[in-house]
Amino acid sequence: VDITITAETVHEIPETLFGYMWEDINHSGDGGLYAELIQNRAFQAVEPGTDDALAAWTALNNASISVIADPSPLSSALPNALSVSFPSNSSGPAGIANEGFWGIRIDAGSTYTGSFYAKGTLNTTTGSQAEVTLQSKATGDIYASAEIDVSSLSASGYTKYSFELKPEGGAPDTDNLFTVTFPSPAEVTFTLFSLFPPTFKSRSNGMRIDLAETLAATRPGVWRFPGGNNLEGQTVARRWKWNETIGPLEERPGRRGDWGYPNTDGLGLLEYLDWAEDIGAEPILGVYAGYSLGGETVPEDAIQAYVDEAIAEIEFVTGDASTHWGSVRAALGREEPYALRYVEIGNEDFFAPDSYQAYRWAAFANGLEAAYPGKFKYLATTYEDVTSLEPKPAYYDFHQYNNPNWFVEQAVRYDEGVTPRDGTQYFVGEYAVTSNNDGSKMAYPTVEAAVGEAAFMTGLERNADVVFAAAYAPTLNHVDDTQWYPDLVSFNAGTVSKSPSYWAQWLFSTNRGTHTLPTSPVSSNTTGAPLYWSASYNTDAAVVYLKVSNTDSASINTTITLDGFTQDGDAKVQFFSGAAQDVNTVDAPDAIVVSETAVSVVDGVLAYAFPGLSVSVVTIPAQ
Ligand code: AHR
Repeated sequence: VDITITAETVHEIPETLFGYMWEDINHSGDGGLYAELIQNRAFQAVEPGTDDALAAWTALNNASISVIADPSPLSSALPNALSVSFPSNSSGPAGIANEGFWGIRIDAGSTYTGSFYAKGTLNTTTGSQAEVTLQSKATGDIYASAEIDVSSLSASGYTKYSFELKPEGGAPDTDNLFTVTFPSPAEVTFTLFSLFPPTFKSRSNGMRIDLAETLAATRPGVWRFPGGNNLEGQTVARRWKWNETIGPLEERPGRRGDWGYPNTDGLGLLEYLDWAEDIGAEPILGVYAGYSLGGETVPEDAIQAYVDEAIAEIEFVTGDASTHWGSVRAALGREEPYALRYVEIGNEDFFAPDSYQAYRWAAFANGLEAAYPGKFKYLATTYEDVTSLEPKPAYYDFHQYNNPNWFVEQAVRYDEGVTPRDGTQYFVGEYAVTSNNDGSKMAYPTVEAAVGEAAFMTGLERNADVVFAAAYAPTLNHVDDTQWYPDLVSFNAGTVSKSPSYWAQWLFSTNRGTHTLPTSPVSSNTTGAPLYWSASYNTDAAVVYLKVSNTDSASINTTITLDGFTQDGDAKVQFFSGAAQDVNTVDAPDAIVVSETAVSVVDGVLAYAFPGLSVSVVTIPAQ
């Protein structure tokens, strides 16, 4: 295949083009990116007295434990607590243990910052020192411990006890426990435990470093949150309520999320906004739009209350301290308004098109515009070709989940005018290969999946004048409790596995052109070769990028000619390739990795053979 790249910029490539969609799914948040190590830390969204309410907790040494509805709770947000009887007949310290999110990683030299609330009675003749530890579940080996003076324990109200655990040596595996033991006999009620390792950028209540660094490393341009289904709730009452995700953890009730497990909402609106800033991603804020997944829809005569909820949320995010909600945000420590430009109205409202078209879209689009004239861009969450919405959306979000062949075929979707070039902008707000070509499911993204996605992404880049953003989904999964396969990055308590799809995102997103460049031929649709590409130029770095997906299992020879450029040094190719079904897993995380090779360019011409089933970026310094 001969490809000529001409020195004429066609259109700008928005910085939002490549990024992520985010929601708490697969323990991506609680037990994942959110660094809290204690699972079920405050017994949120559970039924007292049930086994489920005790998830992750066990009794040690004859202690008896149960989750109760506390008659005098720590706060109205946290009505449940763990009641523990430390018996007089135990042979050693009795207490409780938490297994974390299917394990706890213990690193030598790290400081683990912890706390819990407790109330109750002690028989001080046996002492008034409690002990917390990090220890091996299998052997009982203690990696770190701290004594806590609990003589202040009172039956009449909670006391907060804080501690630090500093393991001198790391644990060989993650099969570990966090324990709390008390001198017996005692009757103690606990709530809101917490244990944090060091976090990304050292933020308190922050993010798990290895996962945060993994996502940040792709330099995502966009961060769509908080869902996805998890925005909507199964019922209206169970929707993601922004105002219940802010403020002290003691005031956050949490909720049963849409993916089956309790969400602590420790990862709340401010944490998401800080995170988007920390990684330099443009936030796209999804607001609840009156439809919940179980089918419940807010009727037209009641919709204004939900519009008002979104108006207040946006004021909280963007208002200055003279506004009510802006002052609440300032009081929580963030004086400066966040830079928000995009507000997405709902999620996948093609599931409830009648009410969306009849009144929900209009109520939100008109209501928010009236409250904030000219300030935000509103995205509709319908099919790309729905033209019946009023007011006419300037931005659409539509989702693409399919097999590798579909993604390859759709590489030219936006060249072929599926969407009009009339100024309307499109966001592929969720996309991923989700099954093999024969329809079978995959546990991890395969090389074939990544190659298909990359072919599609060349089309997104070529057409970045109409597709202003795209977000891979879902982003993370904890392999010990996954609801949706496959996912970009898989992890457990100790290990992170970056899939071939991740590496495709990394290649595309870290090699960003500022403008597209014309190529001849435009892409494989005119050659029939199973090779897909897009070319761009970065004016700051003075480099040409050629992103290439070879969707065939055989390598393909190419001659790449620069037309009109003054070449400024040799080229490099970053790439990965593999067999169709090759994957990375938490047990073998580096089966597929990106390699780099130097390629010489002679008189503006470069000869290169793209390996079979590969994703590559050719970088050529040129003026
Ligand atoms: O990404 C998983 C789910 O797929 C999202 O929650 C939903 O928006 C879509 O159907």
